[in-house]
Amino acid sequence: MLLLLTLAMAVLHSSLVLTVHLLEHDQDTSVPRGWVHTGRVAPSDRVQLTFALKQQNVDRLRELLGLVSNPDSPQYGKFLTLEEVTSLVHPSDLTHKVVWGWLQSHGVAACHTVLTQDFLQCDTTAQVAETLLPGSEFHRYRKGRRSVVRSPARYSVHADLAQHLDFVGGVHRFPTEMQTVSRAWTNGARHEAKFHLGVTPVVLRSRYNLTAADVGSAENNSQAVAQFLEQFYHPADLAEFMAIFGSGFKHMSQVARVVGTQGGGKAGLEASLDVEYIMSTGANISTWVFTNPGRHESQEPFLQWMLLLSNMSSVPWVHTVSYGDDEDSLAAAYMMRINNEFMKAGIRGISILFASGDSGAGCRHLTKGTNAFRPSFPASSPYVTTVGGTSFKNPFQVTYEVTDYISGGGFSNIFPMPDYQLAAVSAYLKGTTLPPKTYFNTSGRAYPDIAALSDNYWVVSNRVPIPWVSGTSASTPVVGGMLSLINDQRFLKGLPSLGFLNPRLYQLKGQALFDVTEGCHLSCLDDQVEGKGFCAAPSWDPVTGWGTPNYPSLLATLLDK
Ligand SMILES: *[C@@H]1O[C@H](CO)[C@@H](O)[C@H](O)[C@H]1NC(C)=O
Ligand SMILES: *[C@@H]1O[C@H](CO)[C@@H](O)[C@H](O)[C@H]1NC(C)=O
Ligand SMILES: *[C@@H]1O[C@H](CO)[C@@H](O)[C@H](O)[C@H]1NC(C)=O
Ligand SMILES: *[C@@H]1O[C@H](CO)[C@@H](O)[C@H](O)[C@H]1NC(C)=O
Ligand SMILES: *[C@@H]1O[C@H](CO)[C@@H](O)[C@H](O)[C@H]1NC(C)=O
Repeated sequence: MLLLLTLAMAVLHSSLVLTVHLLEHDQDTSVPRGWVHTGRVAPSDRVQLTFALKQQNVDRLRELLGLVSNPDSPQYGKFLTLEEVTSLVHPSDLTHKVVWGWLQSHGVAACHTVLTQDFLQCDTTAQVAETLLPGSEFHRYRKGRRSVVRSPARYSVHADLAQHLDFVGGVHRFPTEMQTVSRAWTNGARHEAKFHLGVTPVVLRSRYNLTAADVGSAENNSQAVAQFLEQFYHPADLAEFMAIFGSGFKHMSQVARVVGTQGGGKAGLEASLDVEYIMSTGANISTWVFTNPGRHESQEPFLQWMLLLSNMSSVPWVHTVSYGDDEDSLAAAYMMRINNEFMKAGIRGISILFASGDSGAGCRHLTKGTNAFRPSFPASSPYVTTVGGTSFKNPFQVTYEVTDYISGGGFSNIFPMPDYQLAAVSAYLKGTTLPPKTYFNTSGRAYPDIAALSDNYWVVSNRVPIPWVSGTSASTPVVGGMLSLINDQRFLKGLPSLGFLNPRLYQLKGQALFDVTEGCHLSCLDDQVEGKGFCAAPSWDPVTGWGTPNYPSLLATLLDK
């Protein structure tokens, strides 16, 4: 409504009007809490814009990804190289001509492309950016030590460019990340359970049946964590973590490669957690860290990481990411395009895992007294494997697992349900008591796909072992490490990597996984649902997916082709 009004006003005030087009009309441009406005930037200040050029053959890409990821297809595992991906999706000559011509006519020359040719990243001044993107107005915002330049007003492009661009990055979205906290800091009561079992590599390896022999040994196997925070993992923390918790299995104590710039500053819990747990689960496997990539004030670190994947012909086989945003805060065009990027990774045999989030089903306030659950993206993308969280049933022992009430899960309002999960999800929807229908969208992609323990981890950060660290940011690298170990055994047998796992995972129908059937996750604190979201149930559920890996069984089932 508001949008139409704004456009109508623009019509009255300008003669160009009908020639402009909003690429991201539904992008939330409000300033997230915690960011302080510090004024409009000077016309000569530099800004960095990322143009997502319209790709070709996206339908073919989707179809091919389905084939290479489906174990019943003769094409299974026949992945493409980045060069082959480029031949498939690169933008048309016309698109290049129109976009370059437009940029050059405004004097923008400092642009970098990626190997797949479908992104252009350009440095320019705020003044030129505002001319290129009518409506935009660049301001500076600060949060702690971070500073970003954003436009609180919507941008448009001239209509003749609209068919050549998916979106422009570096204008609206603020950096977000999942907040990993130690429950020792937030929840005083939990302090009392002094003899509570903390999760360590040994506990994980015991629960998931990993033996000392289950470590990597294949050459050129590798895994990665991607982090988008102004906080860093410290090599000394990793070394100390391995010294304290790494006995009994062969492991590496150093990251093989850091892509991007590690700042100074303090180590972050999140950063320490990811690295320490992917390297103790996917033990003895070469590990990369992607961190705050980008040349200067990184405009959209997550987008920057996506660009890197399209600009490096050799990247690790498994990537775990603890990052997410509310679906309703993002433009559909942006999410669709990022989804294409996940397809481009999957078709290369790369597995991308996202944490499902730490707010259960989430809650979105619609109108007075009306709420709905709030799915999160990229967790809701049909082309990533989304990881939920569990706790031990008996917190004092290695027992079976139940729902961790924070485990993110639900149904997308953007992406329709993919075929691979139709049967599993419809069985769940028929078989159990559900929250009121108005809270969620049964036609959407349902997540998570799989889970692991997410409660009470020990993490070494700033040289200090910290207990009670919880969240799906913990379960995601654990599942990632196990997939890397499976890749390792596959490589030793001459098989290709697992790639995009979901079609195969859903075909297993829970075989080789510990089904989680107890507990519900949290949601809206209102009279209708009283804080309760979905509940775990036998087989797949939108709280813990298919459950948690029984490593030796999963390895055996994923090693036959
Ligand atoms: C992609 O990689 C090339 C070669 O390393 C580099 O010159 C270019 O700047 C990169 N593109 C982006 C967008 O960073
Ligand atoms: C794996 O772990 C479960 C539970 O901890 C146990 O019941 C099972 O026997 C173990 N071994 C295998 C090979 O599944
Ligand atoms: C650890 O990995 C290396 C290759 O990176 C391999 O040569 C070695 O055998 C592995 N160690 C074990 C115990 O498997
Ligand atoms: C694989 O090995 C090649 C050659 O040694 C190396 O250049 C490349 O970086 C490795 N790739 C990964 C992802 O480790
Ligand atoms: C429900 O999800 C579908 C995608 O599966 C979407 O097209 C539709 O708009 C969604 N409905 C609502 C009310 O968000």
